[in-house]
Amino acid sequence: MPTLNWIGKEAVEKHHKDVPYRLLEPVVELSCGEEQSGNLIVQGDNLHALKALLPRYAGKVKCIYIDPPYNTGNEKWAYNDNVNSPEIRKWLGETVGKEGETLDRHDRWLCMMYPRLILLKQFLTDDGVIFISIDDNELHNLRLLMNEIFEERNFIANIIWKKKTNGNNVGHIPAVHDYIVTYAKNESSLKLFEVQQSDEYIKSSYSNPDNDSRGPWTTSDLSANHKGPYFEITNPVTGEKFFPPKGRYWVFNEDEVNKRIQEGRIIFGKSGTARPVQRVFLFERETTQKVDTWFDKQGYNADGMKTLSDILGGKVFDHPKPPNLIKFLLNFATDKNSIVMDSFAGSGATAHAVLQKNEEDGGNRKFILIELDENNAKNITSKRVRKVIHGYDFKGKLKKTLSSHKLNFQALKKANTILEDFEKLKAQYSQEFNKIKSEVNDGCLQLVGEVEVEQKMPPLPGDFLYCTLSVDPLFEANGHIRSNVSFSELAEFVWFCETGTGYTGKADSPLLGIYEGRAIYLLYNGILKDLTEQGGNILTKQVFDVLPKFEGVKVIYAAANRLGGNAKRENIVFKQTPYALEV
Ligand SMILES: C[S@@+](CC[C@H](N)C(=O)[O-])C[C@H]1O[C@@H](n2cnc3c(N)ncnc32)[C@H](O)[C@@H]1O
Repeated sequence: MPTLNWIGKEAVEKHHKDVPYRLLEPVVELSCGEEQSGNLIVQGDNLHALKALLPRYAGKVKCIYIDPPYNTGNEKWAYNDNVNSPEIRKWLGETVGKEGETLDRHDRWLCMMYPRLILLKQFLTDDGVIFISIDDNELHNLRLLMNEIFEERNFIANIIWKKKTNGNNVGHIPAVHDYIVTYAKNESSLKLFEVQQSDEYIKSSYSNPDNDSRGPWTTSDLSANHKGPYFEITNPVTGEKFFPPKGRYWVFNEDEVNKRIQEGRIIFGKSGTARPVQRVFLFERETTQKVDTWFDKQGYNADGMKTLSDILGGKVFDHPKPPNLIKFLLNFATDKNSIVMDSFAGSGATAHAVLQKNEEDGGNRKFILIELDENNAKNITSKRVRKVIHGYDFKGKLKKTLSSHKLNFQALKKANTILEDFEKLKAQYSQEFNKIKSEVNDGCLQLVGEVEVEQKMPPLPGDFLYCTLSVDPLFEANGHIRSNVSFSELAEFVWFCETGTGYTGKADSPLLGIYEGRAIYLLYNGILKDLTEQGGNILTKQVFDVLPKFEGVKVIYAAANRLGGNAKRENIVFKQTPYALEV
């Protein structure tokens, strides 16, 4: 497999291992509602934040959406678009040494992304998926990077998202799209949900030209290229005989074909004289479909801007994504209890989308956002999410598309039916909207409902904990555990070291939990109510006797072991803190 090389690659390949484990420090005054809700906004460099979150969330995140700097080289962007911020320069200076100062902007972008992607992968569930927004500046590099880190076999799609309606004549072929590069953690475990077929799709695919009492129908092939029945089908009216096309076979046997001809489920084209086809009715069809790679109906950049300025007022952030776009990804990539992560959070559009999706389907998805810029995190990311949770002042029109038809020849032919449908919908929705009108948008004839919101957008229930990262890491430079690390903080870490998975226990007992048949214990910080250094943190006979019992293998982390030969007899694997705590 071809691999990508760049200046600084060697320096960053193992860098994620050297990043120290920091602790999350809650900031209550910037949080919202219930602290333990499971929703998090972390302010800090995502390299450190991801490392800090791993012990709790490794292998638990179903969907990651990130929108990293595109590396356009456009300095005036509010965020660190060309990876030139003091933070990153400092990091590059420290990590890749002198070379870092002279790196070309693509090398620097790759150096920035590599360790973060390695860490992100560790968060995904086995059936998890990562979506990465990007444009032509780094698409090619990102694909190779992802092939290396996530493996080529886990590539799912390069989604094309239409981000604006015109390219303002910029460049030779103005680009009106971005990409959303999509990889699975493990392609064979991935199950993406199907989405509801749009009315537009259904209406353009099914019709009822012969007024069949079973309702609208369409035709589908009666032959397939895998081996199957091969015989002559006779048109009972004309007597004409048909074999399957060359290299193909019928999908039903002779009896079934004759039965279906009787039932009018196999017809000879709409004319009655063509080759036999299946007649498939709308009522017996799934109305869901897989998602295609072309997204042009999930909102544009301008919608993202409009939504954010409605919430925070003015233009406070460049290029926020429309929540609808992210919500659409959540539709098919998450279930109601999934954890969703965004480690380049910006204006918090991902949290907005999660809250909207939960409101729509009664779900309990959780979000974890990370934002580097302190001002953004305090005054944009968390402020937006708080306002969305409480409902924000909004006076204006809210629009909802009730029906949409592409303006093509077929639609023109059935213009009367479409207008009749519009009238029915107008009557159906007349109470819900102040105004319902038809308009042409983006090549579609649409029926749009408008409602005047006088004061507030309805709240979207949710809570979040705002955190920063501790200045000092969990371990001191000499390898000792920092003195103010709590039992639960170390418990998460011990569990992660021992199992490689995130800790979900309560950490209120020296027995942290049982994993693959072995019990994992931690003696630390007076968990047995003995705070003396020589007491509670050391494995003695008295301590062992009061530990919660377990028959099988007991892995015990403690500062020292005074059990001698008894440890083996008791099925104990002793691990000395802090030395055994290496990940
Ligand atoms: C393109 S914006 C994301 C926009 C976001 N999707 C939205 O819709 O608002 C990228 C964000 O990543 C943040 N960022 C850049 N480097 C980061 C890092 N190392 N750690 C965390 N956030 C970072 C920037 O401050 C910026 O807010």
